Amino acid sequence: MSAGADATVGSPTPATPRRARLRRELAGLLALALATASCAFHEQSMLHPGGIQAARIERLWWTFFWICAVVWIAVVAALLVGLFHRGPRYREGERPPERERTLLRNVGAATMVTVVLLLGLLVGSVATGHSLTTLARPSALVVEITGRQWWWAVTYVDPVPGRRVDTANELHIPVGRPVLLELASPDVIHSLWIPNLHGKRDLIPGYRTRLWIEADRPGAYRAECAEFCGEQHAHMALWVIAEPPERFAGWLGAQAQQAATPTTSTLWRGRQLFEQKACSNCHTIRGTQASGKVAPDLTHLASRRTLAAGTWPNTRGHLAAWIADPQGPKPGNSMPAVDLSGDELQAIVAYLGSLK
Ligand code: CUA
Repeated sequence: MSAGADATVGSPTPATPRRARLRRELAGLLALALATASCAFHEQSMLHPGGIQAARIERLWWTFFWICAVVWIAVVAALLVGLFHRGPRYREGERPPERERTLLRNVGAATMVTVVLLLGLLVGSVATGHSLTTLARPSALVVEITGRQWWWAVTYVDPVPGRRVDTANELHIPVGRPVLLELASPDVIHSLWIPNLHGKRDLIPGYRTRLWIEADRPGAYRAECAEFCGEQHAHMALWVIAEPPERFAGWLGAQAQQAATPTTSTLWRGRQLFEQKACSNCHTIRGTQASGKVAPDLTHLASRRTLAAGTWPNTRGHLAAWIADPQGPKPGNSMPAVDLSGDELQAIVAYLGSLK
């Protein structure tokens, strides 16, 4: 017997404690929903634009929202009046002509208003779509983004003459400069969505698509794959870091360097193990013998925020768990478990953790 049922014995209002608890729980849920909606999702929200295109999309969204809200309220009000207003009743075919005319006029007016509103929304939508494609400028930074099951390869083409910069799951861009993203996919259709900067754009096998973005303010924005692409579609995130131009130049310069040389015997051991074991068949670490091309470039892995395409924060513990059992937390991905002793695992984790 529950405490709630005991409390009802002999009480004139048996449901009161239960109702009060329900009310408290509902209020708590509402507060939680509001708090998460207003704080936690700023990093991945089209309602907090970080660039001019997202600002235009946000304006369109609010226009739709307010017009639809007013229409909804008007329709519900008309429905309530129809349900509860007791006007004169007439039999079939006995309605007076002036009443008939009023009805026709009202229906005609409502139809006209609907058509005008829909046309207005259509024009606004097309105009916004058009304005989003007019960012093209010759000073643009070009970045290739390849969507794969289930991570993002990011390549800066020729940032320093003769050098490419390959990284993964993290895109850095300078504030105030247009960026042209060249999008491709070698496997299935993915879709890149950086809500704070732009709308969605599909990555289609065998077909290049493009997306222009520009950030107006520094910030870290979370992007997601927005097209179902297999078992780990939900674990395919990309962080977009918009930073002041000098800071971005510093980051790009550091990324263009080869991997840090080990400074201790443990780090050397980690590097040798990485080169000898299966790791090097798939991953590249520039400046070492590891030159695999099918998995993320790890040359500066320790400089990134997350592991496994935004699945966890980039910490030693998560890295060790990820290498020890790649199929446990992200099943179906292409990374195989490599046979390593505890010592060997520690050495590899230490080495990868030194790759700033
Ligand atoms: Cu890639 Cu969903």
